[in-house]
Amino acid sequence: MYSISILLIYALVAEVFRRCCVILLGAFTGPLSKIPGPMIGKFTSWPWIIQCVKGNQMNIGPRLFKKYGDIVRVGPADIIFRDKATIQKILIDDDFRKSRDYESAREDPNVTSLITETDKVKYKQKRRLLSPGFSITYLNGLEPLMHECLQAFTKVLDARCKDEGGCATVDMNRVLGNLTSDVMSAASFGGSFNLVESDDNTQKNIFTSYLKRVALDAQFPFIKYLPGVPLASSLISGLVEDIVSKRRKEIEEGIMKKDILQIFIDTNNADPVSFTDKHIRAEMILFMIAGSDTTSLTATFTLLLLLNNQEKLKELISEIDSTFPSLEDTITFAKTQDLPYLNSVINESMRIMPIVTAGIVRLVPETTILCGFEVPKDTIVSAWINEMQRDSRIWPDPDTFIPERWLGDYKGVSADRKAFLPFSAGSRNCIGQQFALKELRLILATLIRRYELSLVQGQSHELRVHTVPWFKQGFYKVRVKVRT
Ligand code: HEM
Ligand SMILES: *[C@@H]1O[C@H](CO)[C@@H](O)[C@H](O)[C@H]1NC(C)=O
Ligand SMILES: *[C@@H]1O[C@H](CO)[C@@H](O)[C@H](O)[C@H]1NC(C)=O
Ligand SMILES: *[C@@H]1O[C@H](CO)[C@@H](O)[C@H](O)[C@H]1NC(C)=O
Repeated sequence: MYSISILLIYALVAEVFRRCCVILLGAFTGPLSKIPGPMIGKFTSWPWIIQCVKGNQMNIGPRLFKKYGDIVRVGPADIIFRDKATIQKILIDDDFRKSRDYESAREDPNVTSLITETDKVKYKQKRRLLSPGFSITYLNGLEPLMHECLQAFTKVLDARCKDEGGCATVDMNRVLGNLTSDVMSAASFGGSFNLVESDDNTQKNIFTSYLKRVALDAQFPFIKYLPGVPLASSLISGLVEDIVSKRRKEIEEGIMKKDILQIFIDTNNADPVSFTDKHIRAEMILFMIAGSDTTSLTATFTLLLLLNNQEKLKELISEIDSTFPSLEDTITFAKTQDLPYLNSVINESMRIMPIVTAGIVRLVPETTILCGFEVPKDTIVSAWINEMQRDSRIWPDPDTFIPERWLGDYKGVSADRKAFLPFSAGSRNCIGQQFALKELRLILATLIRRYELSLVQGQSHELRVHTVPWFKQGFYKVRVKVRT
């Protein structure tokens, strides 16, 4: 007679055998088996996920593309792409929905924000709600707020120059991070955090550590359920609740503001059940994060590229100086909007040093042909826009900073605007694109008109990524001197 335990062991062995067969079958005979890639990727995504968590994906991805071509299988159901046609299909034509990574990045699975909503219909509603906060009229109304923040910024830089004998060495990455957080809080929440002027970095640190936690949570969703591990937003909550309660008090006193926070509060008042206080919090955190470090890094990268390409910097200085002949001239949205060289410099900077340094991740909704391969439902596909933006088949001298390619043909090739997607594309593109560009133009024109900027030699340009990139050395220094 068989004992029950022997039966159990047989069952166990059979199950292990079955699972191995499924994995092997998927690895070598499934529809994805023909896609090139490292052997380990046929069986497991783990090596790839570990690179993501280490912030090192941006260094590994390009090597894989170099070795295997335009499409690489990095996990059993995980594919990365770099060619223009497939990226166009993933993001724009088929407009695939966001992958589950975005769901795991939610703190409370039931509370979605604009960025973590993966349902297409619900997303449309959320986005429509916010569109008044990004209309051209509304954005133009933000100009005085941005001027105030920039004034505080130049005051601090001027003072530092004076303190340091006329010429200061400034961590641009950090001052600009302070500036863009001030602009974001002033524009969306009705009050600047005053990070540029204050000496208290706690608010900024709260958001930065939150970012790193979210990146971790996205890969290891279970972490937030471990006993004793605080929620990613536990620190942020207090900050955000203060802002909301202050606003509610102002409303009672009859002070009306018309910003993004007001849109959230109105939505909550109209429907407190489906748009709760937790939703307000999730959206506010998202806006602080999506809108500040992205913009400050883009500005820092642009300065880095200009300082390392002095003729291009000279060209830009001459355009800015002829537009604003006197140091007293106000640098406005209107006067910077169409400056050809400034806009080319910004584009070229976002082409070679974009904020998105790895793939934009989507989920295949039903079996689709991508890049000539049959890709089944539920495969994770990543659109590597940064690799496309450096594709030598599209961009002559892809790794060189050449703003002129945006002004006319360069080596007989004009800039291919469809192969340039620094703000992503399709229904989930960046809602803050115009906001960011207006702010970037003001920041760069102000810095260049007011200061003589010079390179601090010997700095590493090496980056790491957690949601957004950061300098591995922790700073990027620039020498600053007030122009006369
Ligand atoms: C140079 C600066 C910026 C760059 C390069 C940038 C880039 C991007 C990219 C690539 C995405 C798509 C992310 C994804 O698919 O996961 C995105 C989404 C988003 N951005 Fe920006 N962004 C910038 C500035 C801003 C600003 C200033 C704001 C707000 C005022 C903003 C708000 C958002 C929001 C809310 C989303 C989420 C949209 C969605 O999930 O559908 N961004 N941004
Ligand atoms: C989310 O909603 C579901 C159903 O409405 C509920 O059962 C679940 O407890 C909720 N989860 C959280 C974390 O609130
Ligand atoms: C940025 O802000 C933090 C605190 O708000 C401050 O410690 C730091 O000095 C500021 N950076 C500069 C260079 O002004
Ligand atoms: C910069 O890129 C945008 C988006 O592709 C494009 O519309 C614009 O014309 C470009 N600017 C210049 C100066 O070429």
